Amino acid sequence: MVLPVILPLSEQHLPAAAALVCAHYAALRRAIPQLPPRYEEPAALLPRLRDMARRAPGAVAIHHGRLVGFLVAYLLDNFRGHRGVFSPEWANGIDPSAGGSIYERLYAHMAHQWAESSYTLHGLSLFANAAAACETWHWLGFGLATVDGVRALTPLDAPAPGLTVRRAGLADLRQVAALDDGLHRHLVAAPIFLPLGAPAGHDELAAELADPAYAFWTAWAGDEAVAFMKFGPASDNTCAVIYDPGTSSITGAFTRPDWREHGVATVLLARGLVWARTAGYTRCAVDFEPMNTPAARFWRSHFQLVCLSQLRYIDASGVQ
Ligand SMILES: CC(C)(COP(=O)(O)OP(=O)(O)OC[C@H]1O[C@@H](n2cnc3c(N)ncnc32)[C@H](O)[C@@H]1OP(=O)(O)O)[C@@H](O)C(=O)NCCC(=O)NCCS
Repeated sequence: MVLPVILPLSEQHLPAAAALVCAHYAALRRAIPQLPPRYEEPAALLPRLRDMARRAPGAVAIHHGRLVGFLVAYLLDNFRGHRGVFSPEWANGIDPSAGGSIYERLYAHMAHQWAESSYTLHGLSLFANAAAACETWHWLGFGLATVDGVRALTPLDAPAPGLTVRRAGLADLRQVAALDDGLHRHLVAAPIFLPLGAPAGHDELAAELADPAYAFWTAWAGDEAVAFMKFGPASDNTCAVIYDPGTSSITGAFTRPDWREHGVATVLLARGLVWARTAGYTRCAVDFEPMNTPAARFWRSHFQLVCLSQLRYIDASGVQ
């Protein structure tokens, strides 16, 4: 059997690379039709790929003259506090029918170059329907770090939790900030350890509370806010294929521990979905850390998975 050959990525490979990603995305979209249609078109991805390929090295796998795999990544001086690389879901892909351990060989090729330049944190994102590819990357030493989900704005049946539910405004800053601080403490602590740094104050929160493009749905026990869920325009801090004017992203949610598992977040999600539809959106997206177990369970109950981002730390002392 003739194995695919691994070569440096160059401009001539980019249309076939984009077409490979779009074919995978089209398969994902058949399972999740509410995903944006435009990423099925190579033209939506080619400019990004071209830009990335100009700045960073990549590799392709060629089999009988046909591109059957590629891998390229952003080179980042500060990736979660490390020098690292990240390949978004549109910057890698293989044709599994070509066989020949393609991802493994692409990674071996690129990992050598990355480590030589001291990029010791390696990340990549995969479409969530690529189960075999995920398994391959686990065997390459990668672990799941972030998950993206999406759902349609179909109404959600949520029994009332016996609380007042309303949209918060700037006048509620103090109460919402206390919940937001709770969320920050939760995310930086075990077992999530999200490297968020120190809380940055509440200026941004105040601006968002005053901005009609954001909707903070809150639950109140008397005059105490016990939970919030924040909806707004598509977040650009997630996988690229959810990024679309029709996407409303949830970028914060917290229920006070004494009110958890009473259906509070479900009610806030239901209200937020109605708001998003009224505001003209067509879908809702969220991203979360898989080791945040209660949150992962909650989001997976209500959203379909789109992208799975994986990370591998290299011990710099072992790099030769
Ligand atoms: C994730 C989070 C917001 C969920 O909030 P919540 O108010 O507990 O959510 P709900 O009560 O609506 O739903 C949680 C579970 O309780 C269940 N539940 C709801 N009402 C219930 C009841 N009366 N009795 C028992 N279980 C109940 C739900 O079915 C749901 O189960 P599931 O997760 O398996 O689907 C909350 O766990 C939290 O604040 N976590 C810390 C902050 C965080 O991680 N935020 C998200 C960052 S991505």
